[in-house]
Amino acid sequence: MSATAAVIGCGDVSAVHFEAVAKLDGAELVAVCDSDPQRLAAAVAVHGVPGFADHLSLLEAVRPDVVHICTPHDQHASVAADCLERGVHVIVEKPLAHTLAEGRRLVEAASAGSTKIAVCFQNRYNATSQAMHGLLQSGELGAVVGASATVMWQRSAQYYLDRPWRGTWAGGGGGLMMNQAIHTVDLLQWLVGDVVAVTGNASTRFLGGTIEVEDTAEFVAEHANGARSAFYATLANAFNAPVTLEVVTEKAVLSLRGDLTVAHGDGRVDVVPERRSDSGGRSYWGVSHELLINDFYARLDEPEPFWISPAEADKSLRIIKDVYRQSYPEAADLVS
Ligand SMILES: NC(=O)c1ccc[n+]([C@@H]2O[C@H](COP(=O)([O-])OP(=O)(O)OC[C@H]3O[C@@H](n4cnc5c(N)ncnc54)[C@H](O)[C@@H]3O)[C@@H](O)[C@H]2O)c1
Repeated sequence: MSATAAVIGCGDVSAVHFEAVAKLDGAELVAVCDSDPQRLAAAVAVHGVPGFADHLSLLEAVRPDVVHICTPHDQHASVAADCLERGVHVIVEKPLAHTLAEGRRLVEAASAGSTKIAVCFQNRYNATSQAMHGLLQSGELGAVVGASATVMWQRSAQYYLDRPWRGTWAGGGGGLMMNQAIHTVDLLQWLVGDVVAVTGNASTRFLGGTIEVEDTAEFVAEHANGARSAFYATLANAFNAPVTLEVVTEKAVLSLRGDLTVAHGDGRVDVVPERRSDSGGRSYWGVSHELLINDFYARLDEPEPFWISPAEADKSLRIIKDVYRQSYPEAADLVS
């Protein structure tokens, strides 16, 4: 494999993408892009490649094989569609888009051609997620009866003051659910099955003076296979606790909290340890960005679409937007 790469959006999460590209045999960083002149200058200085203030100039001048899109949520779908249109493969950070309409647009753009696109739900590559999915798909634990999940994290007002887009409907398309809890929403629907109905509520419980989006949310989801799941997430916790995700089947209880514990009905208990890493100093982002990125590059020549496609990523976006629709009925245009 040999591929040239560019990173668009050189903020916080870009460090993980730069690191993965640098470690990947055959991948070569050839350009960076950021609309903020200071961020751009810093990235050019660190990485020693040409820098561009907008993605169209980068695509025109360099035309890399792969772009990594690490921009705010409202700059995902439009930038990704421009890349796909020019035959440039895309790894775009989650969420798929900030609105349902933009998400739909990217789903359509992705299915229109053979250019590859991945959405960065890297937690699907966690050892525990893979083990859970394998066990549930194998059928050996019987049918799924139900599930629950919690995301009990901590974010300060400063986190939003540092990056104002994160606290707005226009820039983020939502708050805690779109930015943090979406990984767990994605895992829940991937592991338990497609969601057919959601009842939920999102609210701003403690950061109301700083952000216009939600910092706390809960929902109950009905899955196509008849299972029901309960979900709770907040940024009001005192620290970033490990995400919990528990799936109950006819023959076992699978409990994720860091590591995965599988308690079988016959008394056996299996433990699947999670990989540990503090990649980029942000261990709570998960350890698997690099695995997803490596897998994407390894599959560039395969004819099939990448498995975490826009259509897959649209599922968590729809669940979250359904909760918003119910929570803010007077602002349907703003939150859709
Ligand atoms: N997968 C994960 O675990 C994970 C973790 C953190 C962040 N993220 C995602 O990564 C994305 C970026 O988050 P962040 O925290 O790094 O944000 P950030 O604000 O730190 O960085 C975004 C950068 O994009 C630049 N930018 C904005 N619009 C642009 C445009 N049109 N073209 C080029 N550059 C542009 C900004 O100037 C900024 O430097 C978000 O989608 C976020 O949800 C994912």
